[in-house]
Amino acid sequence: MSGVNERIDDLRRRKAQAEAGGGQKRIAAQHARGKMTARERIEQLLDDDSFVEVDGLVEHRCRDFDMDRNVIPGDGVVCGHGTIDGRTVYCFAQDFTVYGGSLGEMHGLKICKILDMALKTGAPVIGLNDSGGARIQEGVASLGSYAEIFFRNVRASGVIPQISVIMGPCAGGAVYSPAITDFVVMVDQTAHMFITGPEVIKTVTNEEVSFEDLGGASTHATRSGVTHFTADNDDDALELVRDLVAMLPLNNLEKPPIKPTSDPLDRDCETLDELIPNDPTTPYDIIDAIEATLDDGAFLEVQSDFAGNIVVGFGRLGGHTIGVVANQPKVLAGCLDIDASVKAARFVRFCDAFNVPLLTFVDVPGFLPGASQEWGGIIRHGAKLLYAYAEATVPKLTVITRKAYGGAYDVMSSKHIRGDYNIAWPSAQLAVMGAEGAVQIIHRRRIGSAGDPEGERKRLIDDYEDTFANPYRAASLGYLDDVIQPRETRAKLTKALGALLEKEEIRPARKHGNIPL
Ligand code: HXC
Repeated sequence: MSGVNERIDDLRRRKAQAEAGGGQKRIAAQHARGKMTARERIEQLLDDDSFVEVDGLVEHRCRDFDMDRNVIPGDGVVCGHGTIDGRTVYCFAQDFTVYGGSLGEMHGLKICKILDMALKTGAPVIGLNDSGGARIQEGVASLGSYAEIFFRNVRASGVIPQISVIMGPCAGGAVYSPAITDFVVMVDQTAHMFITGPEVIKTVTNEEVSFEDLGGASTHATRSGVTHFTADNDDDALELVRDLVAMLPLNNLEKPPIKPTSDPLDRDCETLDELIPNDPTTPYDIIDAIEATLDDGAFLEVQSDFAGNIVVGFGRLGGHTIGVVANQPKVLAGCLDIDASVKAARFVRFCDAFNVPLLTFVDVPGFLPGASQEWGGIIRHGAKLLYAYAEATVPKLTVITRKAYGGAYDVMSSKHIRGDYNIAWPSAQLAVMGAEGAVQIIHRRRIGSAGDPEGERKRLIDDYEDTFANPYRAASLGYLDDVIQPRETRAKLTKALGALLEKEEIRPARKHGNIPL
């Protein structure tokens, strides 16, 4: 029997082998591509010296294709837990230097263990993905482990925040774990996500497309909406995850952490008095309103390059994390279309699941007209946003800055779908539609038979505007809780939020609703 020293030497040798991953040559290749190794990424993500590794000595048990002669402890994924700002998180990082980070049976089961532990302890999971996909040598065992991961992602959905960072390839069915998680961060140029790659596409459809155009960060940020954040490099991506985690509760039974602020709660937002142009068709930037309202003007926008007609993201109000949703008059006049509805609906549901109050800024002329929108299913997609708002029981604050027309008025966190504190600026117009359209419909005959049709049209438009192009009819009906001077926005909202923090709303028991997917 070997002595104590030999046993400890043996342990050290095994650990060193695990830590060496795929070896110096492959590590150098990883660095040459501007990528960190799995261990470097975890170090960067977590607080100093907080990482506790688990399953560092797990090995695959594949005996085909000579794999028994190529066993690397850890099996291509580094797993464990640590802290971010002192709060526990679980994480895994696929190691591209070991079998290309490919996911075999044991590699997959290591990730499952992390997901199980995170769920048991109520801590977020952060997955750092860099993988050639299913480990080809392990066949169906690899597919089995993928499905075990997917199942756990679904079980953990709405219970613990799940964040995926794509820092290399992520192809085939492998994309479905990130897709189920709450947030996807992609590193520009090095990350690629697709179901089938350029070669298969060329064979099947004869389309020629590069890796980058098909599934690079920019594509998924602007066209598909798959990614929520784009980072310039690994460092940037990991910093972003730390910022995001700092905003969120560890699980659905907690409230988000409070970050004390020196920004006065009753600070006057002077610039907002001048924000709305006199001409109701002139655009302005709703982000100015958001930043003026939030603590220190700090806003973490989510999906900033996708469906720009709606803005979503996180900020703080009086130290409390809030989710902001806002129509953006600068893009498509702030109309709701398919992409905007889906983007905002998913965000609203995330906030509701994790006790993040919602603040909605409304300036919406309606749903975007067009055959492509109708045929694309704006009816069922728009319904998602309506459903998400109506279902949400977190505190809901709504500020109507200008237009709130038609069905979109109802959808955007209106009183009727249980907005808790609904206010408007004097520039608000709550109506079925804009004055010109309305007059054209209800007074067509009268205008046609008038001696001076244009004069009559103008008079009727003025009439309609006097009646509806203001917030006072809605305020008189109690659909608005108040009409305020824009500069008072922050002060009013912080007070309202303070009163609503302990809000509880019980809904009928059910297995789950049936959101129009
Ligand atoms: C086993 C793999 C692997 C895989 C890469 N490697 N992918 N080993 N299974 N899926 C190994 C390579 O053999 C190589 O080993 C090392 O990883 C690095 O790979 P390279 O090809 O040298 O690197 P690179 O040129 O950067 O190309 C990376 C790549 C390419 C684009 C990921 O390797 C690739 O196309 N791999 C196959 C991708 C794929 O088709 N996967 C299956 C997708 S379907 P050595 O020893 O030489 O370093 C899928 C289904 C999931 O994943 C289903 C879930 C339900």
